[in-house]
Amino acid sequence: MSLNGKRILLVIAGGIAAYKSLDLIRRLRERGAAVRAILTRAGAAFVTPLAVGALAGEKAYTDLFSLTDESAMGHIRLSRESDLIVIAPATADLLAKMAAGLADDLASTVLLAANTPILAAPGMNVEMWEHAATRRNVERLAADGIAFVGPAAGDLACGEVGQGRMAEVADIVAAAERLLADAAGGGLRLDGRHALVTAGPTREPLDPVRFLSNYSSGKQGFAIAGALAARGARTTLIAGPTALPNPPGVTIVAVETAADMLAACEAALPADVAVFAAAVADWRVARRNEVKIKKAGETPTLALIENPDILATIARRSDCRPTLVVGFAAETGAAPEQGRDKLVRKGCDWIVANDVSGGAVFGAERNRVHIVTPAGTESWPELTKREVAERLAVRIATHFAGPHAAE
Ligand code: CTP
Repeated sequence: MSLNGKRILLVIAGGIAAYKSLDLIRRLRERGAAVRAILTRAGAAFVTPLAVGALAGEKAYTDLFSLTDESAMGHIRLSRESDLIVIAPATADLLAKMAAGLADDLASTVLLAANTPILAAPGMNVEMWEHAATRRNVERLAADGIAFVGPAAGDLACGEVGQGRMAEVADIVAAAERLLADAAGGGLRLDGRHALVTAGPTREPLDPVRFLSNYSSGKQGFAIAGALAARGARTTLIAGPTALPNPPGVTIVAVETAADMLAACEAALPADVAVFAAAVADWRVARRNEVKIKKAGETPTLALIENPDILATIARRSDCRPTLVVGFAAETGAAPEQGRDKLVRKGCDWIVANDVSGGAVFGAERNRVHIVTPAGTESWPELTKREVAERLAVRIATHFAGPHAAE
């Protein structure tokens, strides 16, 4: 896909990778985009406004307090007159400012005033990237809807080796194209629809102080609820215990056990769409102890009984079945095939099959999924959980929008 007619605002912060941003301007323009650039003060120490302006074909903006710039092109207009903002390189300092909502120079002010998608391509030293503060900031920004591309691992300009190298220019261009394509589906809304989402783990108590559970963080389900609500759906999120903030505009029902989750789902019906992203504990103890089990005596043996399958129960309801029932499947190998099997077994309409063979998905930021529907399987590239949620929301909105609804 080309970037024909797209207006991209490129923010160049102060990192050595700024030299690659000169090439990025050329590649974006080659694909048909109009590029306007802002250099932070530190960015201008790495590449000159003259070089940036010459490549962009338009003067580079550098300082919020230049009165001539403010009257000719206010910082609000700079962000409004773009379809996408790309930050390359996004330094630890700029990410920290964004996460804190600071606006003390042109770049940070434009970013705070932005109402367009933002793509950040971090580039920094490995220790800075891995520092707890940067991790926290990136997590916060991802939750705020900022898309990330990279950083890659490899030799760093500082002589160290590790993750921190800004993504290759071609990867940044591809990520920009993807983001704009998603935003194009962005016109589709879910106003007037009720969405039900389950997320997180369930907790099955053994006694008043112990429980069985799993490592689910709830991130994917929370992101889906947020994305559906952002498209106008009245969204009910039925969540097991997580450490996540409530997504804006979502009604959250906090539950603990699988039985609670099923009851809360049934109470929330009717719904147009239900997405079952929770990692429901498959078993609970047959008899929960009312008092703490003491160590004295024999080592206890846990007798388990199977929990109700919430997805299958809702998908097979004869009354009040949501129009679109979406399940998740965590598979280690042959995810699309296993997903299709689960689709039939559980009676749902789509399965988002998660390929977990490559390593940890629980708690991770990224996810690789296949969307299995009766019409076929779509394999998505590795994306952030936020991007998976966005795409799924677009897919759901498209489903409700048209005649192709009958998939
Ligand atoms: N699910 C559910 N209730 C359960 C178990 C699972 O609603 N008691 C839902 C999950 O939210 C998910 C889907 O079913 O959407 C598939 O979950 P998964 O754990 O992959 O499937 P299982 O049924 O546990 O199948 P298996 O362990 O055999 O792969």
